Amino acid sequence: MTTVLVTGGAGFIGSHLCERLLEAGRSVICLDNCSSGRERNLDDVRADEAFTFLRADVRNDLTAVLRDGSVDPDDIDRIYHLASRASPADFEDHPLDIARTNSEGTQSVLELAATVDARVLYASTSEVYGDPEVHPQPESYNGNVDPRGTRACYDEGKRFGETITSVYHRQHGVDARTVRIFNTYGPRMRADDGRVIPTFITQALDGEDITVYGDGTQTRSFLYVSDLCRALRAVMAAPDLGGDVLNVGSTREVTINSLAETIRSLIDTDSEVTYHPLPDDDPQQRRPDISRIQVAIGWEPDVAFEDGLRRTIQSVRAQRD
Ligand SMILES: NC(=O)c1ccc[n+]([C@@H]2O[C@H](COP(=O)([O-])OP(=O)(O)OC[C@H]3O[C@@H](n4cnc5c(N)ncnc54)[C@H](O)[C@@H]3O)[C@@H](O)[C@H]2O)c1
Repeated sequence: MTTVLVTGGAGFIGSHLCERLLEAGRSVICLDNCSSGRERNLDDVRADEAFTFLRADVRNDLTAVLRDGSVDPDDIDRIYHLASRASPADFEDHPLDIARTNSEGTQSVLELAATVDARVLYASTSEVYGDPEVHPQPESYNGNVDPRGTRACYDEGKRFGETITSVYHRQHGVDARTVRIFNTYGPRMRADDGRVIPTFITQALDGEDITVYGDGTQTRSFLYVSDLCRALRAVMAAPDLGGDVLNVGSTREVTINSLAETIRSLIDTDSEVTYHPLPDDDPQQRRPDISRIQVAIGWEPDVAFEDGLRRTIQSVRAQRD
């Protein structure tokens, strides 16, 4: 049986990925320090005999961590490296932790992969493009990031993570591929982490003002989490993507104003939309060019935006109940 290590597996995306991998008959080791993730995200998989949870920091010597958890490191065939706080609220509160997790933590994952000959998928981000001057963003675009800005711990942390992932591929022969994930949403996002969809949903359910930053004409493209997990698994499975980098995201671009209106109408709330100053380094436009992943693995997003929003609203309601 293929044994898969998922770092950051107790987080929003990681917990969905662990479920999909177990359903596909994999043995899954989830390693997470629960800094932004929650053990309760794993409630549905805990009882599965093929599932192991290790509470640990990815910056540690992972061979030792696995042995301490009674896992033979040589059993690991695949590593999805998702560990990293990812919410804007954390960029201000935990900048060093984020920068170090993506640099030292990524190196530690790559060292393990080199030692046990495992294939790696590194979860990078559209934030490597910063505030893009090219639209939509292809993988060949090198980005427009302020290395000293308030978001730099994350943007530059991920850029460095990509750098050492490439170095380990070129110089140490690690079969590592990188995906640049664009805004993803779905059940289990934390309501309080500053990301726009759970924030708007919570405000609308509470009948509070929906707080739009800037004039709301800035755009994002949102991908539903099940579509992302399908892409991650297919990119990992493809034999010839070592050393490659692929965008994963939705190409349906929406303004923040229209997102606020859609959530207002789906929740049928009295909330008003209010406008507030735009934070530093907030990108104006975001949409991936996904031609490379379409050609490489034939992937397309499947879940309609309103359907995904309905499922997310339902899960936020269920959590509150
Ligand atoms: N959600 C998105 O829209 C999005 C977009 C682009 C990239 N990503 C990337 O996908 C990955 C998962 O994001 P998410 O949205 O699920 O965030 P999340 O915060 O829900 O999950 C991240 C997980 O990593 C864990 N973690 C953080 N630092 C760690 C460390 N040092 N050691 C061990 N575990 C650690 C956290 O506890 C958490 O469970 C991240 O790498 C993120 O950068 C997410």
